[in-house]
Amino acid sequence: MSEKQPTTVSRRGVLCGMALLAVGLLPEAAQAAVTAAGVKVVGKKIVLDLKANKALNKVGGVVQVDFQDGSSMAVVRTAAGTKGLTAISLSCTHNGVTVMEQNGAWICPAHGSQFALNGKLINGPARTALQKFPITATATTATIG
Ligand code: FES
Repeated sequence: MSEKQPTTVSRRGVLCGMALLAVGLLPEAAQAAVTAAGVKVVGKKIVLDLKANKALNKVGGVVQVDFQDGSSMAVVRTAAGTKGLTAISLSCTHNGVTVMEQNGAWICPAHGSQFALNGKLINGPARTALQKFPITATATTATIG
């Protein structure tokens, strides 16, 4: 079994809405990861230092974590406070292609599915929202998985 580790972290401030999504499990691959700027692995969870990821200070802010296998996840600020963060997989639910942020939404370059920043499905051909990961937060950290 190969280990997949975060390789990069990018921060973008973008606009988004809110929605409820199905909660999934953090991929096994992501659980054996190493540190990127403001991101580390503690046990089987990924921990973001919110002070090092200031994009998450504002509603609509996004922090993307990319893994060595090419998969990615994003943490999105959907509301103020410790319950206002959402963690989603960026693998399109149609066929697994990585979606990209564009004009405040996630767009799949393969067949054009669109998702809100919080992962909610806007347009197919995908039929379901982006997978959501469990996330908890304090004033200083967000823990995913
Ligand atoms: S893989 Fe994303 S729309 Fe087909």
